[in-house]
Parts: sequence; C-alpha cells; structure tokens
Amino acid sequence: MQAARILMCPPDYFGIEYEINPWMNVRVGSDTERSRAQWSALVATLRDLGASVELLEPVAGLPDLVFTANAGLVYGRTFICSRFRYQVRQSEARHFASWAGSRGFEVVHLPEGHHFEGAGDALFCGETLFAGYRFRSDVRSHQWVGERLGVEVLPMELVDPRFYHLDTCFCPLAPGWAIYYPGAFDEYGRSVLRDRIPNLIEVAAEEAVSFSCNAVVIGRNVVLNRGASKLIGTLGEAGFATRPLEFSEFIKSGGSAKCLTLRLDGEDAAAWKHQGLRIQDSPRPG
Ligand code: ARG
Repeated sequence: MQAARILMCPPDYFGIEYEINPWMNVRVGSDTERSRAQWSALVATLRDLGASVELLEPVAGLPDLVFTANAGLVYGRTFICSRFRYQVRQSEARHFASWAGSRGFEVVHLPEGHHFEGAGDALFCGETLFAGYRFRSDVRSHQWVGERLGVEVLPMELVDPRFYHLDTCFCPLAPGWAIYYPGAFDEYGRSVLRDRIPNLIEVAAEEAVSFSCNAVVIGRNVVLNRGASKLIGTLGEAGFATRPLEFSEFIKSGGSAKCLTLRLDGEDAAAWKHQGLRIQDSPRPG
C-alpha cells in the first residue's frame, strides 16, 4: 500500500486573532510554544504511522491557515477549493489553490456566493459524500460539489454551534464505519447516518466536547485528542489502535487533530480511493 499523503501548515502565525466560532476568545489567546510542540508531535506521529507529510508555507496574518482540512475537498486529481464563510479566512483560499495547482491538481472553484469549507464539512464514507451545512458551508454548495464530481451527496444540517464543521462531530473510519456525536445533528441527520453507515460508533457528549470526533485515520490507526477513554475503548474493541495527543492550543481556536490535516491521496474511508478504475490516481508531489 502507498503511504498516506497529508498536507499540513506549520503554526508560525497561528493565534486567536478573531472570534468566528464559540471556542475562540481573543482575550484567552493561545500559547505559541505549546502550539508549536503540539503540532510537531502530530507530524511526528503521522510520520511514525507511515504517512508522508507535505508542508504549506505559513503566511503572516492568516492565523487559521494551519487548519488545512479547510483548504478544499480532494477527489482523485480534483481539488475543489474552499470559499470561506467569514471574510477573515477568505484570503486563505488563494494560497490553498496555488499550492494545489502547483502539485498537479485540477483546481475547481465554486460559483461566487457559495460557501464551502472543504474537508471540514464534506467527508466520504464509502461511495457517499456526507456533508454538513449551516454554520460554514451552504447546502447548495454541497449539491453543486456532488454534481460536479458525479457522486451521491447527503447534506445534513449541523444544529449545535460548538460543532460548526462536520469534522467536529463525524469521522469516517473505513467504508461502512464512522464515529459521530448525535447531539450535533437533527433527527433527520441522525437517521441518515444510522441508515447509511452500518457500523456507527456513538461518542458521548462529554468526550465530543473535547473534539474526540476530530480524528485523523491512517489505516487502522486513529490519532485524536487525549482524554476520550470511552471512545478509545470502543475503537479498540472494533480493531482500531489509537494515538492520543494533546491539542489544547488548537482547541482554543475550535480545531484539533483532523482540522490540522488534509488527506491528499483520499481518506481510507473513501471508496473512490480503493477503486483505481473509476478515477485516475492522485498526482504525485512535483
Ligand atoms: N478557527 C478556525 C475556524 O473557526 C478553526 C477551523 C477548524 N477546522 C475544522 N476543519 N474544523 O475556522
């Protein structure tokens, strides 16, 4: 199997400089040294799990560029570039787009007026793209993406502002497997997930609020914020090994392990990744 390819961005300019989700508080701020150490520990863990980590050049004045999950959505050679909801993050998009273009992706932009925050809000599990909308991405953006890629998309409304991106409350583990926090969805969203994902692991509220769902999956390994003892137990029974790490500084910005990464060769849970015939391989580093 080829090594997982992951995009990350060093936290040189990371900080809490504005408030666009309930976790951010400019008066609390984040600790520069600790955020650097936590980010580096994630890189080291991913490399230890066999991943190759590619780095985006950090940019002064863009404190949230570290959250590469929000760069866009990768589908084979296609990179659907994000269109951020809040003005403070909008200029990140051209950095992500030019990076993706330089790496051989076909960069696609949504029509103006559509908000879409990439792998933060759109995650494949099996054949289907599960998509969260309301706080950041729009439902019509997800429909547009589904049509553009020719995949089934299931938009689900997010109902709790603390779980404003889908990746804060839902994490595909493998085709047919995912973890989720039910309280972040309405009854319709919960029933979609229950109907469509046979092995759905529920995360308890007290563990969900420490970003336990915001995990990076590499094969049968799950890297997540530490402290989720129940979830770690359940994942262990299901045959997944866990690597708990500290993400306190990034949680102050509303992000944890998963938000700091973008899988470039397809998430392991994405069926397209395993169906080499349907679409061409992801581009190699140029
Ligand atoms: N401060 C960032 C924001 O509010 C955090 C983004 C977290 N990213 C994610 N994929 N959940 O936009």
